Amino acid sequence: MRQINEQAPAKKEDFERLPRHVAVIMDGNGRWAKKHRLSVSRGHRQGTENLRGIIRHTDDLGIGALSLYAFSTENWNRPPEEVSALMQLILDFFASEIDELHRKNVRILILGDKSRLPDRQREVLEEAERRTSGNTGLRLNIAVNYGGRAELVKAVKEIASLVKNGRLTEEEITEKTVSDHLYTAGQPDVDLLIRTSGEMRLSNFLLYQNAYAEFLFPEKLWPDFTVADYDRALAAFSRRDRRFGSRT
Ligand code: FPP
Repeated sequence: MRQINEQAPAKKEDFERLPRHVAVIMDGNGRWAKKHRLSVSRGHRQGTENLRGIIRHTDDLGIGALSLYAFSTENWNRPPEEVSALMQLILDFFASEIDELHRKNVRILILGDKSRLPDRQREVLEEAERRTSGNTGLRLNIAVNYGGRAELVKAVKEIASLVKNGRLTEEEITEKTVSDHLYTAGQPDVDLLIRTSGEMRLSNFLLYQNAYAEFLFPEKLWPDFTVADYDRALAAFSRRDRRFGSRT
């Protein structure tokens, strides 16, 4: 890996190897807002702005999948004005980005239970999935009303129902069966998980898919996390020795 350049984003050739699937927990918007004496909602807006460059760069590098934790099942417990600001940001994000993402062959998938979302948000998310469903480029997974345990419960129920209906036997159930019933079915497991702001928790994000992921916890708050910081994380991943439980 050549030196990370603050001015010019890295290129695919600069890395010895790249992850196939990156997951990001965009943490620190609230602290960023406090530091700048702004509202939490303004922090989330800044965080959303920051996202655009990271998505674009992931696509430019040819990384196969990017999963972003936008709204967890626990986030409903935040103050109502913060929840509505996040819901509005989801609408604004798709209004401004969907055309370019579609043009770039990005396929959008929403991870999570959309049924509890307000009608407008649900419609916009479903339309983004539908419109990009034939695209073959970057898989952009956006977790909205997502919880990793809830996702596993959903998978277990679906598999149980197949067994009950005689379409699958207990013996036929493998790890692949479980993967195939997750929101991310058909996608590679997460290779690299990045959580900004120095917090070292998984917070119920992609529990099954992160089984062998490399974890990085950069100190920067999400709105301050630049493309150069992202390149540094990718370079750190490239240097890590992944053994998947074996010795070699
Ligand atoms: C964590 O920061 C961040 C969130 C709970 C929300 C992240 C969401 C976005 C950046 C919007 C994404 C939108 C789309 C459409 C993908 P925090 O508020 O927990 O930060 P704190 O720990 O500093 O308070």
